[in-house]
Amino acid sequence: MIIGSTGSIGEQALEVIAYHSDKFQVVGLAAGSNWQRLAEQALHFGVKKVAIGDKALYPNIKTAVSGLELWAGEEGLCYLAGLEEAQTVIVSVTGAVGILPTLAAIRAGKKVALANKETLVAGGEVVTKLARQYNAAIIPVDSEHSAIFQCLRNEGRFLRKLWLTASGGPFRDFTPEELGKVTPEMALHHPNWSMGKKITVDSATLMNKGLEVIEAHYLFSVGYDDIQVLVHRQSIVHSMVEFIDGSFLAHLGVPDMRIPIQYALSYPDRWPSPALSLDWASCQTLQFEPPDTKRFPALELAYEAGRIGGTMPAVLNAANEEAVYSFLDGQIRFVQIAELVAEVMGRHGVVLEPDLESVLEADAWARECFRTLLRK
Ligand SMILES: NC(=O)c1ccc[n+]([C@@H]2O[C@H](COP(=O)([O-])OP(=O)(O)OC[C@H]3O[C@@H](n4cnc5c(N)ncnc54)[C@H](OP(=O)(O)O)[C@@H]3O)[C@@H](O)[C@H]2O)c1
Repeated sequence: MIIGSTGSIGEQALEVIAYHSDKFQVVGLAAGSNWQRLAEQALHFGVKKVAIGDKALYPNIKTAVSGLELWAGEEGLCYLAGLEEAQTVIVSVTGAVGILPTLAAIRAGKKVALANKETLVAGGEVVTKLARQYNAAIIPVDSEHSAIFQCLRNEGRFLRKLWLTASGGPFRDFTPEELGKVTPEMALHHPNWSMGKKITVDSATLMNKGLEVIEAHYLFSVGYDDIQVLVHRQSIVHSMVEFIDGSFLAHLGVPDMRIPIQYALSYPDRWPSPALSLDWASCQTLQFEPPDTKRFPALELAYEAGRIGGTMPAVLNAANEEAVYSFLDGQIRFVQIAELVAEVMGRHGVVLEPDLESVLEADAWARECFRTLLRK
């Protein structure tokens, strides 16, 4: 089952599945609005159960393909995430829209291959609590978290620190003046990875790394003081763990998301992969440097939201989602993304130990607060 099959991760997950077609059968697919591609995927993989997030597009896909069991909206995504015949659910939608299908998959006892980081950022407390209650496996797909997951196998009790690596994005060498002139076209060119628009902009502001810090906190139960970020331009070291005896284990490989996607499916085994092998002769230099949080304040905002806890990470995430799409629409400048997120966070009255309802309310509140600020 893939929730978010038409995106960058969803398409690569289908490639991995096609490569190992003897091991998988796709029983359902869901996407947001790209009904044409969703229909093509369903026909190609012989999938009979499909959901489209945008209810208004239900008639389009219904007339395009016959013989499908069709669902729409949030209920449709949740229904498919809990589908009886699915064993593994890949959650690869973008944004907090991933929360409810992830919870539905956990409740239904599925193995969850989680690419969608916003779910753990916004709803980390609720999701991890439910996963413990249902003894559900959440296997990270995000390359940094997959790297840590692989380095930590059986040795979590000896952990001292997590080291998350970041490419630094396309503007890592820009001056503050140059950052003031960044356009959406410039921000959508990532130096090392080909990804969806939202995460590409997040990588350029370093908010992506901030979201990953919070994601790591919830996935590995590590305090924020023990999660460090390093800028590593080559994106060869995908992350590292430091143990109490001073040893480090790092995960290295080519920057190809099919590797962590496949690992989430093959775990605890490993299978041959269509990804290229690392050519050591062409990567003789591996550089590491601390991030510059003055030029990229979004990273520090995420640490702050994580440390405050409660509903604050949900507010950070929702304000950031709104800010990224406003930047892409030309309504705000690149540097205003972090400024406006900080402004929304400053206005929020935090609810500690939130339940699902408080998380969803905080998410909705932050979006409304952002839009009010934008109108001003
Ligand atoms: N791409 C990467 O390399 C990468 C790496 C690590 C982590 N991640 C994380 O993985 C997630 C997906 O990233 P991506 O790059 O694959 O994004 P993407 O290319 O923008 O794809 C997003 C997917 O989510 C679907 N979607 C969006 N809104 C929806 C809604 N309301 N209901 C149902 N489906 C909806 C989209 O469907 P339509 O296109 O049909 O609208 C699409 O299938 C993000 O959380 C990202 O942070 C991505």
